[in-house]
Amino acid sequence: MDMTKLQLLPPIGGAIISIGLGTASALLGQLAIRTWIGITPSLIWVFIGSGIISAVLGHVFKLPKWWIPVNFAFPIAAYLSLSASIPSWVYLMCFLTLALVYWNAAGERVPLYLSNPTTWRALDNLTQQHSGAFLDLGCGLGGILFYLAKRHPQKLYVGIESAPLPFLFAKARQILTHQANVDIRYGDFWKQDFSAYSTIYAFLSPAPMARVFEKISQEMPKGGTFISNSFAVPEIQPKDIITLEDSRQTELLIWIF
Ligand SMILES: C[S@@+](CC[C@H](N)C(=O)[O-])C[C@H]1O[C@@H](n2cnc3c(N)ncnc32)[C@H](O)[C@@H]1O
Repeated sequence: MDMTKLQLLPPIGGAIISIGLGTASALLGQLAIRTWIGITPSLIWVFIGSGIISAVLGHVFKLPKWWIPVNFAFPIAAYLSLSASIPSWVYLMCFLTLALVYWNAAGERVPLYLSNPTTWRALDNLTQQHSGAFLDLGCGLGGILFYLAKRHPQKLYVGIESAPLPFLFAKARQILTHQANVDIRYGDFWKQDFSAYSTIYAFLSPAPMARVFEKISQEMPKGGTFISNSFAVPEIQPKDIITLEDSRQTELLIWIF
């Protein structure tokens, strides 16, 4: 198999191929054991084997790390759910819910995961002296925005989100809490004008970073600050990197324009 071509696929393509190959190899393994040894391994062992092979293939195909446990669990979960008699609408509802939450995982290669409270506090320290508006690119559930907005009622905190369920959650929170200095907008951040913000925060993935940085450097006003949680911009060194004392040793990379 041509690995360079595989690495050009979005991760979902690599995951489908590795799970397909993993399951096919495990079924062939079951056939071989039955033919040569005369024992038929039960299907649960076949699917556990499939999970292990799919996870190893995911690693070989250089999928992002978070796909490896998905590759392992998917064949086992598929087997367990097929052997339990769950009505088909339950699968449809689960699929729709996941699709509405992880809307950007396949296309943008940015799934939903959330900045932790240690990061919120660090962002508060870093941005206290900034006078203009704050933008969270892909704000998820809006945790950062509400935390900062409560502490700085005189400043505006804007979040843009295109995944329907996280957007609805953040919007509902804004309406219910009456937090007037939070503005949650539905939409694609590529179509937004960044010129109104003095601070832009992003916690995305490696995939969009070069393009995000290019857009920010073209549109952000002079003196503006861009903070990226964890993900570097290829070939462009940040002005500063702050390592947080949380369990994942989060790095905040900072550029000033
Ligand atoms: C890793 S989450 C971070 C959420 C939040 N900023 C935080 O730090 O807790 C990234 C979010 O960006 C959203 N996203 C990705 N691409 C986007 C785009 N082009 N426009 C708007 N939102 C996007 C995803 O749906 C996801 O909710």
